[in-house]
Amino acid sequence: MAEVVRLEDLEALSQEAARRWLSIAQQAVAERGKFSIAISGGHTPRRLYEIMAASPYKEQVPWAQTHVFWADERRVPPSDPQSNYLMACEALLNHVTVPPAQVYRMMGEGLLSDSTADYENKLKRYFELGPRDWPRFDLVLLGLGPDGHTASMFPGTRAVSDLTHMVLVYEVPQMHMERVTLTRRVFNNSRNVIFLVSGADKAKAVAATLEGPDLPSTHPAQVIQLTDGHLVWLVDQAAAADLKPAEGKAS
Ligand code: 6PG
Repeated sequence: MAEVVRLEDLEALSQEAARRWLSIAQQAVAERGKFSIAISGGHTPRRLYEIMAASPYKEQVPWAQTHVFWADERRVPPSDPQSNYLMACEALLNHVTVPPAQVYRMMGEGLLSDSTADYENKLKRYFELGPRDWPRFDLVLLGLGPDGHTASMFPGTRAVSDLTHMVLVYEVPQMHMERVTLTRRVFNNSRNVIFLVSGADKAKAVAATLEGPDLPSTHPAQVIQLTDGHLVWLVDQAAAADLKPAEGKAS
């Protein structure tokens, strides 16, 4: 069962996410000597990335032991304004000391097959995967679209149901755009997944995903159910507007 935490606004949500990120990173390094994170793009996480790139987090996070991956990427060059990689560099990576060799960019350019093979190889090398092993991230940051998509698992696409690939590159019909995405089995094998959801435009998707009928083909974020990890939804009041009142609170 997911933990749902309601925060006042995007700033409060981002501050809570930063606190959790730091705690998870410090624990991972203490236990395993390194910390792996898969980050999302879009607008919501930018404020979190800015917080992590500034005091007091900048000085506390073990950046030298941090390995940064992406949950998904648009099929554009890294210099394109739509690039999730570019946004993360501008808001975070250009300001902290993650060694460049520990930043595993998803190829948004080039052939589809090259993008898939490149990222699968990066995952296999970092996680030292055997033939039947799956990556196990310490932390994955996910967002939620107004249509219920997360990462680039869009409603009605094969990305939602795929259980055999670590990485999918495909044309998203409703976006008329190709996307690269990690898949549900990768996300669900993680130690921690944090959803960051802000804004009134997400309220219907949040309520349908968390309290609606089980319909993952229309609400893909429902497939995020960790096998052995902690799932938390950080939702601001605007995005939580259609949820039932929190237990113990009057509506
Ligand atoms: C992307 C993201 C995507 C995002 C949602 C929410 O590549 O766009 O990975 O899954 O998390 O679309 O986006 P916003 O934060 O911009 O609302």
